[in-house]
Parts: sequence; structure tokens; C-alpha cells
Amino acid sequence: MLAVSGLTASYGPAQVLHGIALDIGAGEVVTLLGRNGMGKTTTVNAILGIVRPTGGSIRFEGREIAGARSYRIAQAGIGLVPEGRQIFPTLSVEENLVATAAARFGKPRWTLASVYELFPRLRERRGNLGSQLSGGEQQMLAIGRALMTNPKLLVLDEATEGLAPLIRAEIWEVLARLKSEKQAILVIDKNVDALCDLADRHVVVEKGAVAWSGTSAELRADPSVKDRFLRA
Ligand SMILES: Nc1ncnc2c1ncn2[C@@H]1O[C@H](COP(=O)(O)OP(=O)(O)O)[C@@H](O)[C@H]1O
Ligand SMILES: [Mg+2]
Repeated sequence: MLAVSGLTASYGPAQVLHGIALDIGAGEVVTLLGRNGMGKTTTVNAILGIVRPTGGSIRFEGREIAGARSYRIAQAGIGLVPEGRQIFPTLSVEENLVATAAARFGKPRWTLASVYELFPRLRERRGNLGSQLSGGEQQMLAIGRALMTNPKLLVLDEATEGLAPLIRAEIWEVLARLKSEKQAILVIDKNVDALCDLADRHVVVEKGAVAWSGTSAELRADPSVKDRFLRA
């Protein structure tokens, strides 16, 4: 579904991605792991067309999308839950959800009704402004908003950052449910143990390049990966 190879990107003169490679198959959940500042957000922003790649290839369903406009990439079927949530603070919950709604061919999986069914809390808060929500509710809204685009691939950048353990667990449950429906997901998160249960494969980024990749079983079997690349 997604095939990234040799991806490079820079901020001004500073090159931060040095040839990232990453593959996601239909229905797969893949993680992007690594310490702060290693290039995870830059990688997803390059995939989404928010950062312009300087080289390499990003193929989505066989089509080259490297350098395409971000709205085109969203239309092609990649939905982003951005780092820091970035919901619209002056719009209501419902307005936030409707703002990105994109009906795809046939009957869309995700509508206001099905997002409210996934996150009952959002239905209760539908009339509240984005700015009036708790951190956890904002995160649910950010996920709901991405789902409203009916993405073929859902990308979450630090979706449980700063959340209380119970809310975090709720988000993991939602992702597990999406996976059971064969939703392809690329997830960036610091909670490696939770991700080992959820994900099929992992890609560890170190200084803008892939330092390790493997399955959840391989990651569990090799504690040195955590020591070398994931501990602060
Ligand atoms: N807008 C920006 N301008 C300049 N440098 C940036 C910008 N965003 C990130 N960087 C730098 O690029 C590197 C990778 O950052 P980032 O992709 O955000 O890492 P991660 O998501 O893994 O924490 C870091 O050194 C960071 O300081
Ligand atoms: Mg980041």
C-alpha cells in the first residue's frame, strides 16, 4: 500500500532525513520508533506532503506521491493525526469533524454517527468548542477528524503523548478495533510495549535513517534494540 525508499528531507541547509525506507501492506499496523529529534515527524510530514522531500520515492497504491500537494495526498487516502493534535479551537466538536469529511465511493465507513459510536464522549461534547475539551477528548477528536476523511492509511504522530494512562489505554483499544477491521495504520509513539501488542512490524529511526526494523516477535526477543535506540 505504502512504499517509501531513499527518502531525504532538509530544513534549510540542515539535512534531517538520510534515506528512510518503510513499507506498509494492506491491513498492516507499522510503527515508527526512535528518540526525540530523530526524524519521525519529518518522515510522516514528508509522506503527507507537509514537508517537501528532497529525494527518494513515496509510492501509495502504486502511484508516486513524493512532492505532491498535501490535499492531493489526503484525497488519495492518507489521513494524519498530527503531533500536538491541532484541532480547530474555535469550532465545535461537530464542526471539527464535518470540516474534513470526505465521502469516498460507495457507503463511507466513517460518518458523524460512526465516529460518535467509536467515541461516545465526542457525542456528549458535540456542541463544545475544541478549546473546551480535555487533552484526551482533543485527541479523540483529532482521531475522529482523520477518520472522517475515510483514509485507506491512518497515520498517528504521538497520539497518546501527555495523556493519562486510562485515556491512553482507551486510544490503544480504538486502534486495536480499527486493526481488526483491516485499517492500515502507521503509528508513532513512545509506548513500545503497547505497540508490540498492536503492531505487526516496527521501524526504528536513528538520526534520520532506519537503524533497525522487524516484527513484534523480533523486537520482544532482542532487548538490546530498546537499549540502543529507544531509551532516553
Ligand atoms: N521546522 C523545523 N525547522 C528546523 N529544524 C527542524 C524543524 N522541525 C524539526 N527540525 C529538526 O529536525 C530533526 C528531526 O525532527 P523531528 O522529525 O521532529 O523528530 P521526531 O519527530 O523524531 O522527534 C530534529 O533535529 C529537529 O530539531
Ligand atoms: Mg515528532
